[in-house]
Amino acid sequence: NDKLDRQARRILRNNDRGGYTVPTSGLYPYQWNWDSCFAAWGFSVFDVKRAWFEIHTLFTGQWDTGMVPHIIFHKRADGYFPGPDVWGVDRIPHTSGITQPPVAATLIRSIYEADKRYGRVHIDLVYGRLVSWHRWFMKNRVDNGMVAITHPWESGRDNAVDWDAAMQAVDPTGVGEYVRRDTSHVDPEMRPKKADYDRYLAMLYYGREAHWDETTIRKGSPFRVGDVGMTFILLRACRDLLHMASELDHLTHEIEGWIAELEEGVKRHWNPDGYYDSVDLRTGKFTGSLSSASFLCWYAGIDSPEMKVKLEEVLSKVNFAVPSLDPQDERFEPLRYWRGPVWGIVNTLIGIGLDESGHTLLSERLRKDTQKLIAEHGFYEYFSPTDGTPAGGDSFTWTAAIWLTWAG
Ligand code: DGY
Repeated sequence: NDKLDRQARRILRNNDRGGYTVPTSGLYPYQWNWDSCFAAWGFSVFDVKRAWFEIHTLFTGQWDTGMVPHIIFHKRADGYFPGPDVWGVDRIPHTSGITQPPVAATLIRSIYEADKRYGRVHIDLVYGRLVSWHRWFMKNRVDNGMVAITHPWESGRDNAVDWDAAMQAVDPTGVGEYVRRDTSHVDPEMRPKKADYDRYLAMLYYGREAHWDETTIRKGSPFRVGDVGMTFILLRACRDLLHMASELDHLTHEIEGWIAELEEGVKRHWNPDGYYDSVDLRTGKFTGSLSSASFLCWYAGIDSPEMKVKLEEVLSKVNFAVPSLDPQDERFEPLRYWRGPVWGIVNTLIGIGLDESGHTLLSERLRKDTQKLIAEHGFYEYFSPTDGTPAGGDSFTWTAAIWLTWAG
């Protein structure tokens, strides 16, 4: 695997724009929040100094409210829509107005543990920033213990079926004419549809008109979904934050309270049909989607024999790793972004959880499948779970990162 290791490192170097790493050139030409955390983790394998630099540039985008935005527009770049002018956020560096899955505390802890001597001063610097970001989540986004998203882009799983019903409540009239840029970089068949994109923009405009004020958005926004993926990821991140707090001799009771609250929330994500599911918080209804995010329970420290049975069932229907949607769901599309394809990063997080819970055969299966997809097809954004067809962007940062840290 020497050759692939070298290739993966080269991808990270080539996507480096000077302190931050773009997910892939062209399609995503800025710093994206969770992509960047994976990039840092990947760098930590061969250049720990560069890994910490990535983390610090991410936090230059943090708002006074504690929120860490999903995109940081450090420099002018062509070919992306919606750019900084559309988001209308009045600060430097320019940012978007929404957040993304908080994998930061977890991956930062890994980077720190791989080289504590070098990492000590860095973790001291970022600890407070992580706390204020998590505090922002708990204050503004945790409803009944479930983590709410106000825009599908926050979930990182943009067009997952989890959002379909809630999206119907969003009125797309009045978004006007606009030119998408994503579909000029990659095949439109592999991207969200126009009807979805109109609503993504309608929600963006809603937030902008509310001056990104969380209280206004909580009251009036048509879209608010308790994302099972976000709840699991934040719960896990809080456990890692708690660990850091002890290590750095900070008080821990606030974080312990968050963990207890989120553990209660996890129970409300349990769909009586027998799996963890997202919940439309405007209607109280389950979204009816067994997705790859449902299988993040182990990553969050929650073992579930029922979910293990579901996982085995899903894996028996595909040839490669955990697909983003249950292949038995009639809405399954093997190549349409988050409605079927396999994503290496989510498989990595699921795999880590399974491994920690002692389900090593399953975690090994996920790792081998992911390894095979990358080795046979390259460092693509995502793949078909049925025949392995690579899709989306090529030379993708987080695919290279998980190769170096987990899959390779
Ligand atoms: C996009 O533009 O497609 C991104 O997913 C938004 O973050």
